[in-house]
Amino acid sequence: MRQEKPTILVFGATGRQGGAVAKALLDRGWPVRALVRDPLSENAVVLRQAGADIVQGTFAEIDTLRAAMRDAYGVFSVLPGYLEEQEEVKTGCMIADLAAETGISHLVYSSGASSGDKPTGVARFDAKPRVEAHIRSLPLNATIVRPMIFMEMLLAPVFGLNEGRYTFLLRPEQSMQLVAVEDIGKFVTAIFCDRPRFSGKTIKLASDTVTGDGLAAIFSEAAGKPIAYSRFGDDVLAANDALGSLAKILDDGPLAEHVDLDAMRNINPDILSFRSWLATSGKKAFQAAIGTGGISEK
Ligand SMILES: NC(=O)c1ccc[n+]([C@@H]2O[C@H](COP(=O)([O-])OP(=O)(O)OC[C@H]3O[C@@H](n4cnc5c(N)ncnc54)[C@H](OP(=O)(O)O)[C@@H]3O)[C@@H](O)[C@H]2O)c1
Repeated sequence: MRQEKPTILVFGATGRQGGAVAKALLDRGWPVRALVRDPLSENAVVLRQAGADIVQGTFAEIDTLRAAMRDAYGVFSVLPGYLEEQEEVKTGCMIADLAAETGISHLVYSSGASSGDKPTGVARFDAKPRVEAHIRSLPLNATIVRPMIFMEMLLAPVFGLNEGRYTFLLRPEQSMQLVAVEDIGKFVTAIFCDRPRFSGKTIKLASDTVTGDGLAAIFSEAAGKPIAYSRFGDDVLAANDALGSLAKILDDGPLAEHVDLDAMRNINPDILSFRSWLATSGKKAFQAAIGTGGISEK
């Protein structure tokens, strides 16, 4: 007889990572409970139609969170990017404390690949290692995942695709790793499926490795016209805090350390290359990024 799988409580399920996790769990037959702020939002309605149990609430409603965890097996914890460092630490630690208190069997916390052993000095990167340290101090089966840069982020207007060029943070020959958000969902589902293998582990998540020149080749192929690559000038990086700090951790921080993609494939055999992501899930966003009608220009 097939055994029913137990429930996973997913935070952020109307967003990118939580949405991918909820979808991948449901695809593999796991019951999903999703805490959402607005049950009538388009993404919440899609989630319900896909089979998720919807609970209305926010991170400020501790009793709601506790009740949502009470009979769940697992919790996927991801926090919105808009939180200030202190708020992110407080909320991430509070969720882990509740997971320990309610006897959750497996917590998966999505940190970031910019987390390392040493603080970076950048508030938006340094909250996550503090939450990680708290989780490790609790009597709890937990897995910490550190997604590399989302493929989705590479299509942001600031990088110039709509002007037929690509300006980014890498030197032409320098490499970095990317992860497709849908792969995060599949990695996390594989982790929930095998607690003995993954409990206590901290795992960087990556789907592909690209270089600056490689990005130009992939974008040119997808656009059907040449897209030249350049690195942001040092003056731009010095003047723009967000770009400058990211460039620094790509150059010699935690994002410079790559993971073995075969090990990734061993967890999620379906990992997407950036080229295949652009041709499938990322196609619509790519077409929007280069401007409608631009794709057939020679
Ligand atoms: N590696 C990378 O390249 C990269 C890129 C971007 C972000 N990140 C990291 O990813 C994390 C964000 O994940 P994401 O991109 O999946 O987020 P996202 O797409 O922005 O979604 C955020 C989710 O959190 C929910 N939420 C917001 N405020 C809430 C509250 N007060 N109570 C309960 N739920 C709330 C949102 O619900 P609503 O639908 O109600 O808004 C939404 O479901 C951040 O830690 C960020 O640093 C990493």
